[in-house]
Amino acid sequence: MDQIQLHTNAAGLSGEISIPGDKSISHRAVMFGAIATGTTTVTNFLPGDDCLSTISCFRKLGVEIVQEDNMVTVYGKGLNGLNESSEILDVGNSGTTIRLLMGILAGRPFHNVLIGDHSIGRRPMTRVVKPLLQMGAKIDGKNNGEFTPISIRGGELTAIEYTLPVASAQVKSSILFAGLQANGTTIIHEPAKTRDHTERMIRQFGGEVESNGLSVKIQGGQSLTASHVNVPGDISSAAFFMVAGAIVPNSEIILKNVGLNPTRTGIIDVMKEMGADITILPNEAEQYEPTGDIIVRTSNLVGTVIEGELIPRLIDEIPVLALLATQAKGKTIIKDAHELKVKETNRIDTVVNELSKLGASIEATEDGMIIHGGTALKSGEVSSHGDHRIGMMLAVAALITKGEVMLTDAEAISVSYPKFFNDLNNLLR
Ligand code: S3P
Repeated sequence: MDQIQLHTNAAGLSGEISIPGDKSISHRAVMFGAIATGTTTVTNFLPGDDCLSTISCFRKLGVEIVQEDNMVTVYGKGLNGLNESSEILDVGNSGTTIRLLMGILAGRPFHNVLIGDHSIGRRPMTRVVKPLLQMGAKIDGKNNGEFTPISIRGGELTAIEYTLPVASAQVKSSILFAGLQANGTTIIHEPAKTRDHTERMIRQFGGEVESNGLSVKIQGGQSLTASHVNVPGDISSAAFFMVAGAIVPNSEIILKNVGLNPTRTGIIDVMKEMGADITILPNEAEQYEPTGDIIVRTSNLVGTVIEGELIPRLIDEIPVLALLATQAKGKTIIKDAHELKVKETNRIDTVVNELSKLGASIEATEDGMIIHGGTALKSGEVSSHGDHRIGMMLAVAALITKGEVMLTDAEAISVSYPKFFNDLNNLLR
C-alpha cells in the first residue's frame, strides 16, 4: 500500500538502456530446463517476482535450480525427475506459471495443489482445466475448477484435437506441455496467432512441433535435452519507454536488445501507424528468437483503430498504448480486447479509471476503450491496483503532467521490471 511521488514534467529523455529479459521466455526457459535431461543455463533471465515464482515451484517439485540475479542453472532430470511436492505450490501473481505448470503436471503421476495471490484467485482456469480433463488429468478447484486453489493428479494422457475458444498463448502452451506427454498426436487450432515462444523452445530443446498457420501439432512421448537460453529483452517492458520516448518532449532514446518475435511486435506496427518516430535496428540473424535495438524520438501522433488479429500481438501493451492515444490527434478505438478483463486486473476498468483521474478523455466499451486524444494530463492520486503494467503506465503518464502525481501500490512493478525506476532515472535529462 506504499505511496510514492512520481517524476513529473520531464524535460526530456535521452540515452540508452538495455531492456531486461523477456518474462514469457524466462518462465519457459526454467520450465523446459526442468523437464529436459541435463544442465540448462539461462542468461539475461528476468529476476522479476513472477519468474521467481516459477523457480520456487520447480524447486518444490524436486528440481535443483541455482539463480543469481539474471543467471540461472537448471539441473534437469527429465519429466520423470519431477516429484510430488510436500508443500502447496504458490504461483504468486503469475498466470503463466499456473497455467503452463498445470500442463506439465497433467502428465505426472502424482498429486499437487496450486494457489496464488488475490489476483490469481479471480482469473479463469477453466480454459486450461477443460482440455487437460479431456486428455485424462484429474483436476478440481473452487467453483468446479474455475478458480484456485486447484488440485491436480496427473497420469496417463491421451492426445486431443482442440480448438481454443480464446486466443491465449498460455492455454496453447499448457496443452503443448500435456501433448508432449500424451499418447498420440495433439493438434491445437487457435482463433488468432498468439506468441510462439513455447513452440520455438520445444525445437531448441531438441523436440519436434509442427506449426501450420493457426494450427500446431505435437507428437507425444518425446524427451528433451538441456540447452542454453540467452533471453532477449522483453518488448512488453520496452513498450513503456517506447511510449515515453514518443510523448515526452525533447526525447531520443535507444532501447537495446529487444525481442522482436513477430507474434509480439504489434506495438511497433501500431506506433508506426500512429506516426511515431521509431527506427528498428535488427541484430544479426538469431537462431531461435529475433532481437534488435529500437530508437524512439518525440513524435506527432494521430489516433487509430486497434482490433482483430492485432490484439494478441500487443495484448500486454494496451494499457500503455491507451496512454499514447491520449496524446494523439483525434480518436483511438481499441476493440476485440475482452481478454483485458481477465488479466492481473480488469485492465479495461483500471486503465479507464486511472487515466481519467489524470484528466484523460477515455471511455470503457464492452471489448475495449475509446480515447479522445490531444488532452493535457493533470496531477492526481492514482493506483496500480497491484498490476505491474498499470503501475508503469502511470509512471510514464506522470512524466507529461505538470502537477504532482502520487502512485499507490508501486511495488507491483517488480513482478516484471524490478529495475524500472532505475532505468527511467537514467534516461531523464
Ligand atoms: C503470456 C501470454 C499472454 C500474456 C501474458 C503472458 C505467456 O496471456 O498476456 O502476460 O507467457 O504465454 P494469455 O495467454 O492469457 O493471453
